[in-house]
Amino acid sequence: MCGIVGYIGESQAAPILLDGLSKLEYRGYDSAGIAVYDGDKINMSKAKGRLKVLSELTHDGATLPGSIGIGHTRWATHGAPSDVNSHPHFNESQSIAVVHNGIIENYLKIKKMLESKGYKFVSDTDTEVVAHLLDYYYKGNPLEAITKVMHRVEGSYALGILFSDNPDTLYAVRKDSPLIVGKSENGNLIASDVPAVLKYTRNVYFIENEEIAVITKEDMKFYNVYEEELQKESVKIEWDVEAAEKGGYEHFMLKEMYEQPKAVADTLNPRLKDGKIVIEELNMTEEEIKAIKKIMIVACGSAYHTGVTAKYILEGLARIPVEVDVASEFRYRNPILEEGTLVIIISQSGETADSLAALRMAKEMGSKVLAIVNVVGSSIAREADSVLYTWAGPEIAVATTKAYSAQLIAHYLLALKFAEVRGTVSEEELSELIEDLKRIPEQIEMLLGNREKIQKFANRYVAARDVFFIGRGIDYAISLEGSLKLKEISYIHSEAYAAGELKHGTISLIEDGTLVVALVTQEELYKKTISNVVEVKTRGAFVLSVTNTGNTEIEKNSDYTIYIPHTNKYFTNSLAVIPLQLFSYYISIGRGCDVDKPRNLAKSVTVE
Ligand code: M6R
Repeated sequence: MCGIVGYIGESQAAPILLDGLSKLEYRGYDSAGIAVYDGDKINMSKAKGRLKVLSELTHDGATLPGSIGIGHTRWATHGAPSDVNSHPHFNESQSIAVVHNGIIENYLKIKKMLESKGYKFVSDTDTEVVAHLLDYYYKGNPLEAITKVMHRVEGSYALGILFSDNPDTLYAVRKDSPLIVGKSENGNLIASDVPAVLKYTRNVYFIENEEIAVITKEDMKFYNVYEEELQKESVKIEWDVEAAEKGGYEHFMLKEMYEQPKAVADTLNPRLKDGKIVIEELNMTEEEIKAIKKIMIVACGSAYHTGVTAKYILEGLARIPVEVDVASEFRYRNPILEEGTLVIIISQSGETADSLAALRMAKEMGSKVLAIVNVVGSSIAREADSVLYTWAGPEIAVATTKAYSAQLIAHYLLALKFAEVRGTVSEEELSELIEDLKRIPEQIEMLLGNREKIQKFANRYVAARDVFFIGRGIDYAISLEGSLKLKEISYIHSEAYAAGELKHGTISLIEDGTLVVALVTQEELYKKTISNVVEVKTRGAFVLSVTNTGNTEIEKNSDYTIYIPHTNKYFTNSLAVIPLQLFSYYISIGRGCDVDKPRNLAKSVTVE
């Protein structure tokens, strides 16, 4: 998604802006631009394509001198990717420059009004409306103009704004799109995400909805939409700068896959105390846990897939009915949330627009909302009633791996805690489950060691046209994730099917050589899934099976078998996902795709 960086201080702004934008590249973008005030006027450079194009155009920022500026990476929503649609955008006299993340929903109406007053537009973007509207309201007081714009526009926005006749101040505003302010000794920064400022500071302020930051070289003040000053506390970011860098790995995705044992252990260990599961952040008494009548899980993409896994586990272990929905469906389907429903929102970024909207809706309907989130201080984390953080650290690659694995752990913990409190598992079973949980990090480590074997296999399938992932029960949930991982980074058409559903349509697509990945980790379902494997084999499929160590029976019906070590049947996804991630990764490399930044995708989907 789009990225924003702004700087005001003693140094040259342009190189800092370019560097900050490079740290946001992972979010996905199609064009980039910067605007810097040179002591006389605001100069701007922007270009379609990678940041490299902008760096070359500006000679690494040297052609835009000045120590206050704003920068942007754009992911097109309104108007095609092009130089002219790139941000920043100017008002007509080029005295106001604006960068924007989000969508101004009523921009057409405002544009019409402004055109009737003689304003001329040069781009197709919604953002340009903000630049002209600021001009319309600006009578020498930037704060007043900004608040008037905030009252007028509808939708979501994070804005960075420069006024050439107020050249010692940088302005930033947000509503439903993330924005932070970083305070450093060598000047102050704004950014849409923490990695952009980490090189300069760890002290950040999270801008809340409808707040305005007024930033000078030495100082910063915060206001609400009524121009009343607000007191805000800064937060110290604990992660290392290196955590957001590649650290010798060829790609972020590979690095993040290798960080999974740690992400899992860090999410698990603090919640295991003296052989018991302790989730203090849950903020729920035993009575409240016993009173849960239903759990509604809402999320998008891979986070949704962890929700699908969680349904099997929460129902199986804690015997609580669970419904899972994708956030973009949930929010518009007029759902029924009866008393006693606990809503769980899962999100790595904590900023996904649909998931955030679902959270707000659930709260308005009176449900308690628990968020499972990776980014500390993100919108979803702040707005939920309680937060269970996944401690996966910053995830940069668009394709999630370590956050997915950490989310699974969060669900296991919840299911075990609920099962313990509700008395649906015995003490003995619980201790066995906990012992199995503790082994997961080292088992993941072991599976990552199989990397070369999977790479060899993937090399044979680089030219595949269609791939099918099949499984039953929890294996169906992992099929969904395996399929998404493959298609998002390799652009190979792939589908996930509940194995028993094949014969209701999909099997007609199987022909000689079609690759079918069969997930066969649920012992009580072995026979059933194997009969589905036989069905596709008879129609010419090439079958790769992922199964438990010891289930050698499957080899009779598979062309290639990958074994995962023994764990409890509820935890197999944590292990089965590893070969699937590696498989997608190597296919993507073999096809020459941009593994970390796949086309058309963004890391954090902050617009609908
Ligand atoms: O930040 P979130 O977890 O809310 O993001 C949800 C999805 O956009 C995300 O999982 C997406 O599907 C990933 N690209 C999958 O790898």
